Amino acid sequence: MSPGILNVDGAPRHVAIIMDGNGRWATQRGQPRSVGHRQGVEALRRTTRAASDMGISVLTLYSFSSENWSRPQAEVRFLLELLRRFIRTDVAELHQSGVRIMIIGDRAGLDPTLRTMFEEAEVLTRENTGLKLVIAFNYGSRQEITRAVQALARKVAEGKISPEDITPSVIGNHLDTGGLPEPDLLIRTGGEQRLSNYLLWQCAYTEFVFMPDYWPEFDGERLRQAIETYRLRDRRFGGLKAQTA
Ligand code: FPP
Repeated sequence: MSPGILNVDGAPRHVAIIMDGNGRWATQRGQPRSVGHRQGVEALRRTTRAASDMGISVLTLYSFSSENWSRPQAEVRFLLELLRRFIRTDVAELHQSGVRIMIIGDRAGLDPTLRTMFEEAEVLTRENTGLKLVIAFNYGSRQEITRAVQALARKVAEGKISPEDITPSVIGNHLDTGGLPEPDLLIRTGGEQRLSNYLLWQCAYTEFVFMPDYWPEFDGERLRQAIETYRLRDRRFGGLKAQTA
């Protein structure tokens, strides 16, 4: 078992990942993109295990964006099937390891069977106190913020709150991630350096680590490397360094 890092100064509490590069990994090997996605699930399993062993508190993974529906139908169907299979086969083991599963993203309009699977996984694991594994599915940050603003506007219209009650922390609590700490570290694999509509509000002061490796190559060692890079960063949150203040 890998040593815990919770007792190490400056360890991230919340790590968010954009798991990019499945398709390119497969194409490079002359394989269909689906092979890359399948290997991507293996990388997800390795990473979740490593994060849990390291004592990370929250791991948020971008599994399917609001924009991914525009991919060819066969690829969308394959990704949905992978997610269904993952929930069917892995939830029991995750539950046994004390992992709490949470799903963020827009559930309205999703297949009812998938919604039920999400709810069952969340209810089964909700008392667990280990790693919180947050799966972003049908997730888009602008859509999430829009839903939060609509909910707040409804409360104002119903006279439950006044516009002045709307503060950054109230907005944060109305997001799908309400109650979770903001990500300390965001990792994107696959060499691209952009956020792609992921956790835009939550990443105001997050440190970004971009890695050239394709997601199917990711593992506990690469997670540790990204955390080492993060620990060397000087986080100031808009202020000054403690020693120069
Ligand atoms: C990006 O690779 C990855 C995705 C769109 C989805 C990530 C999905 C998985 C890791 C597997 C399914 C998830 C679960 C939760 C079981 P890409 O296809 O954009 O790669 P490319 O940029 O090389 O084309």
